[in-house]
Amino acid sequence: MIRYSKVLGTGGYLPAEVRTNEQISETVDTSDSWIFERTGIKSRRIAGPDETASSMAEIAARQALEAAGCEPDAVDLIIVATGSPEYVYPSTACLLQQRLGINNAAAFDLQAACSGSIFAMSIADQYIKSGAAKKVLIVGSEICSRIVDWTDRSTCILFGDGAGALLLGASDELGVLSTHIHSDGEFEDLLYCANPQAATGEKRNEPGYINMRGNEVFKVAVNTLGRIVDETLEANNMDKSEIDWLVPHQANIRIIMATAKKLKMSMDQVVVTLEHQGNTSSASVLLAFNEAVRDGRIKRGQVVLLEAFGAGFTWGSAIIKY
Ligand code: UT7
Repeated sequence: MIRYSKVLGTGGYLPAEVRTNEQISETVDTSDSWIFERTGIKSRRIAGPDETASSMAEIAARQALEAAGCEPDAVDLIIVATGSPEYVYPSTACLLQQRLGINNAAAFDLQAACSGSIFAMSIADQYIKSGAAKKVLIVGSEICSRIVDWTDRSTCILFGDGAGALLLGASDELGVLSTHIHSDGEFEDLLYCANPQAATGEKRNEPGYINMRGNEVFKVAVNTLGRIVDETLEANNMDKSEIDWLVPHQANIRIIMATAKKLKMSMDQVVVTLEHQGNTSSASVLLAFNEAVRDGRIKRGQVVLLEAFGAGFTWGSAIIKY
């Protein structure tokens, strides 16, 4: 019997505080119209002082488990993608495991910046298809608001906080059709967040904030995402018209529209959460997927293309029959 991996449940969490473009305009030289026109963002959520990547991950994870009707101790692998962990170690995945009250799963963090959720899906899919795991809990959780420089208008307008989760499980029904992940470490300086305590040279004196040459990242992102769409379709011998939904990483509406155009998809078939969430990095694809599953847009049996691009550079896609 062929073994597939299938989405069993999804979850998401957004912290309560809303920070609007107008509020940011009071502290840095920017405006609501500039931010909205250039990015598609109007507001983002900001985690409370007691919240952490693992506390938000727990809420999203429990929701995904509940949707799947799965007890936490049935999970045999936990992968958390985050660029804003509260510790270097233990991993956020181990903290999540503790919060879920289980100790029989392997748990680790994955660092692929904004592409983290797609990389996690790829690993989970291989583990399930090979028979090494039956149920894999994937979470992307980010407190970007604590790693952005709120005096830097070129980055602080972009990011937001939140967590998304997905439970992937073994099934004899078709689910994940394929995943494709890539990296190119040449682009270190275009987008990075230093760890000053362990860095050397100039990076040692930096405060550890997100540092991005946005315009250059933008151009590479548009081209790279175009290529990953082709690669995904070719690998599955599929035509653009067979995709029902695009669930893209939420970095910039202009990047999303370029990918939709490449796929000849109407924006009605694209899940966009950017306007009220900003870029939640590794949480963004999972949050968008969860939203469209829960509001009934994405239905069982439909074909969904998920994709992301982030620091590294890293990029990837997952195409699934939901
Ligand atoms: O998630 C990981 C991957 N990340 C991305 O994919 C992000 C990709 N990049 C972007 O989304 C866009 O490049 C940004 C939204 C970050 C910037 O938009 P842009 O159209 O590329 O603007 P730019 O960086 O070329 O800057 C244009 C102008 C500059 O002024 P001058 O030099 O033309 O006078 C900036 O100083 O806009 C200025 N600017 C701003 N003005 C008002 C930059 N940030 C702001 C701001 N408000 N917040």
